[in-house]
Amino acid sequence: MQLHPHGKFDNHPHPYRHITALPLAAAMGAEIRGVDIAHVTDAQFAEIEHALFRHKMIYFCKQHIGHAEQHAFSRRFGTFAEDAYTEGVPGFREVQPLIKEADDRSAMVFGSGWHTDSPFLDEPPAITMLRSVETPPYGGDTMWANAALAWQMLDDNARNGLVGLKVHFSIRDVLASAQANAEQRDSPIGKLAATRELPELPEGLQKKVRGNTHPLVRTHARTGEKSLYIDPSYGIGIEGLGETESAALLKLLTNHLTQPAFTCRLRWQPGMVTLWDNRLCVHQAFNDYDGFRREMYRTTIAGEKPR
Ligand code: SIN
Repeated sequence: MQLHPHGKFDNHPHPYRHITALPLAAAMGAEIRGVDIAHVTDAQFAEIEHALFRHKMIYFCKQHIGHAEQHAFSRRFGTFAEDAYTEGVPGFREVQPLIKEADDRSAMVFGSGWHTDSPFLDEPPAITMLRSVETPPYGGDTMWANAALAWQMLDDNARNGLVGLKVHFSIRDVLASAQANAEQRDSPIGKLAATRELPELPEGLQKKVRGNTHPLVRTHARTGEKSLYIDPSYGIGIEGLGETESAALLKLLTNHLTQPAFTCRLRWQPGMVTLWDNRLCVHQAFNDYDGFRREMYRTTIAGEKPR
């Protein structure tokens, strides 16, 4: 069902004392002002974390920091997560480059397709941070959709039917798409593309193809907020349902979750830092800036086993 905003949409800013939050859209997202990421006080950090859980995605502008500052700011949120795709920059193995060169004509880009980060892991990352260094003059935006709002907007009958179901998440379809659509390059997607020449996938990748099952209705470990934990990129089935029934339910729910009313969209500029909570939203990147370079750095913060 396509919806239009009404009472359950509540992205208004909280009256913080040490930061300012400026909502980006009716459904979610907020710019945080009054912060220098290289020098965040404890009082500011507490409010930043509160704003992240409230708005699901927050961003900071004009933060021309380096890998060391991104690394240090990320650690304030917890320990680093296992990263499913990349190896990190020299000196900071948890800071992963996401660079698409201007001459890369791949038909797929890292992060394309709605997804929550690495749900095929037993303990998927809770939070992701993405920092922009070079951005195309247009295109290359990122979109997010609010999975907690999507849950709240279902009626009671639908909600009762979903509680207790488990989704099977796997890297299978993303891997197949990279093998078919991406150029072999020294990039996360380029490396996945190169596996099409291997006689057999490495065990680490086979494990991600086998994946994991997690509750479709997830409860946030810190706030107790419930959300739809599902995505059309990694969600390949629902435990206990036949293939046709499972595919139909996945499609229905992912269409509901990613409808325009639940989203926000960010146009990047160099020196921006975004943070999102993978337990509360899904996101997607766009491959619409051929001929331009986009240079980003990503860190991910460890999460718990979804429950
Ligand atoms: C991601 O999915 O983590 C990357 C998003 C982006 O590059 O916009």
